[in-house]
Amino acid sequence: MAKETNQVLNHNYDGIEEYDNPLPPWWKMLFYITIIWGVGYLAYYHVLEIGDLQDAEYVTEMELAEEALQAQMANESSEGSTPAVPTVVLTGDDALAAGKNIWDKPGQCTSCHGANGEGMIGPNLTDAFWLNGDGSLDSVVEIVTVGVPAKGMIPWAGTLRPEEIKYVSSYVLSLKGSNPDNARPPQGKKF
Ligand code: HEC
Repeated sequence: MAKETNQVLNHNYDGIEEYDNPLPPWWKMLFYITIIWGVGYLAYYHVLEIGDLQDAEYVTEMELAEEALQAQMANESSEGSTPAVPTVVLTGDDALAAGKNIWDKPGQCTSCHGANGEGMIGPNLTDAFWLNGDGSLDSVVEIVTVGVPAKGMIPWAGTLRPEEIKYVSSYVLSLKGSNPDNARPPQGKKF
């Protein structure tokens, strides 16, 4: 073990002097361990290539996640429905009021579909004609969730929670047949 010599080094900074003592053994030990670790690491990952590199690890994890997702989806569809996507249109006052709230929020739906769903930039949502899907709740929820980015319909999944998408979609369906003023002519297929 290195011994302290208490020998003062030959410099003096504003009255501060320094002993010439060796570094503590535990500190040096750590230092040697990091060197040995580094050699081992290099050999393991880069020379012998036993360990997966980060990008390979990433691919493996993504594959595992995809498998887990497929398994989960298979599970859910065998139960008949997924919890996030409802199959029943909500008609309760509370749900429709919540839907109207989301619909009316500035910059959300009315700027493109008009205050009453009569259509502006986006299509008329009050008629029986649909460009996308078949006008069922599932299909409206799907369009609102993923949008039609190429045609200017925003995907709302990042902004609205699944519950909110369900509310606003039910509200949209409640507008059917309301014949608002200035309605845009029908587009798409009739359902
Ligand atoms: C930036 C403009 C814009 C906003 C904001 C917008 N939409 Fe749309 N939306 C569109 C356009 C454009 C289409 C037509 C897409 C196409 O041509 O396939 C559309 C299509 C739709 C459709 C399908 C209509 C059909 O006939 O297939 C639904 C349902 C819909 N939007 C609901 C909503 C709801 C609900 C909101 C608010 C949460 C909303 N949109 C906000 C532009 C918008």
